Amino acid sequence: MNVLLFLLLSINLTIFVLNYSTGVVAFHQPKKRFSGLYTGPYFDPTTSTNITAQLGTHAYLPCKVKQLGNKSVSWIRRRDAHILTVDRYTFIADDRFQAFLVEATDTWTLQIKYVQARDGGQYECQVSTEPKMSHFITLNVVVPNIEIIGESDIHVKAGSVVSIKCIITQSLEEPAYIFWYHNDRRVLDYDHKEKNIKTERLNHDTTVGTLTIFHTTSEDAGNYTCSPSNLDSASVLLHVLNGEHPAAMQRGKNAASPIPGRWWGPLSAGLGFSTCLSRRSALTIIVLIEIASHIILSIFT
Ligand SMILES: *[C@@H]1O[C@H](CO)[C@@H](O)[C@H](O)[C@H]1NC(C)=O
Ligand SMILES: *[C@@H]1O[C@H](CO)[C@@H](O)[C@H](O)[C@H]1NC(C)=O
Ligand SMILES: *[C@@H]1O[C@H](CO)[C@@H](O)[C@H](O)[C@H]1NC(C)=O
Repeated sequence: MNVLLFLLLSINLTIFVLNYSTGVVAFHQPKKRFSGLYTGPYFDPTTSTNITAQLGTHAYLPCKVKQLGNKSVSWIRRRDAHILTVDRYTFIADDRFQAFLVEATDTWTLQIKYVQARDGGQYECQVSTEPKMSHFITLNVVVPNIEIIGESDIHVKAGSVVSIKCIITQSLEEPAYIFWYHNDRRVLDYDHKEKNIKTERLNHDTTVGTLTIFHTTSEDAGNYTCSPSNLDSASVLLHVLNGEHPAAMQRGKNAASPIPGRWWGPLSAGLGFSTCLSRRSALTIIVLIEIASHIILSIFT
């Protein structure tokens, strides 16, 4: 008798420890269920609790329930306690949500199509046992970032090589392609001596697209847009200087400043003003230098 009691106790204890290690101890009632190892449904401890999806893609939240029997599986959004699905029926007026069972893996998966930022948060997979059992999954939505490296205006001298680099970060899915547009016309690199378009995947979430123009002419000037397959785009303005101002082969940003941006950049950098003087006083100095150079020039000519 005592031996039997001891056996029962130790089996119960084993189940408790097992349940505890799966992290779902609060939802199991080992005492009631005992008659062999797990008589009712239980969550597979390997089920993820943290899913990350990229904005605009489809997210899949798995809920692996063993020995489900004839119980139902519901998905509930915790934010507003909205019941999304019960078994394969959808209970929300948003057809992006759908649940399906893959029998081979005992997994009820909630699919959320075209994930939006507001879909991020906790979801509950609930099994209709008495009492109910729940498994929680957090969905993280990542928003890819796209930018063109450098200033929003690029100034180059005619004849020079220019590379425009577009960097896409936090993109879990590599863009299928990156198209480049020049004033809304697709840029093609059939002639590799003229132009080159390159796309590199740097790591699991970063892609860099590079457009190189080998011999810029005034026709290359204008708006360049980097447009990946699945994301927003980024643009930059290319200015090609026709050789009359070779000193201006630089980048600038503030086209509306008293000195046009393309002059300000090289001038302030060249004269070392930007760090130690205000723009206004630097401007005064530059004007003085201009006047002085005019005087010197007129003396010599
Ligand atoms: C879940 O995954 C995201 C992205 O991979 C990560 O930043 C976050 O720290 C994870 N959270 C937990 C609780 O593991
Ligand atoms: C589920 O199955 C059990 C026995 O396996 C049965 O007693 C019960 O009525 C069933 N419930 C439903 C809702 O079919
Ligand atoms: C460049 O072109 C893109 C795409 O047409 C547009 O969204 C953007 O406003 C343009 N930028 C400038 C500075 O014209």
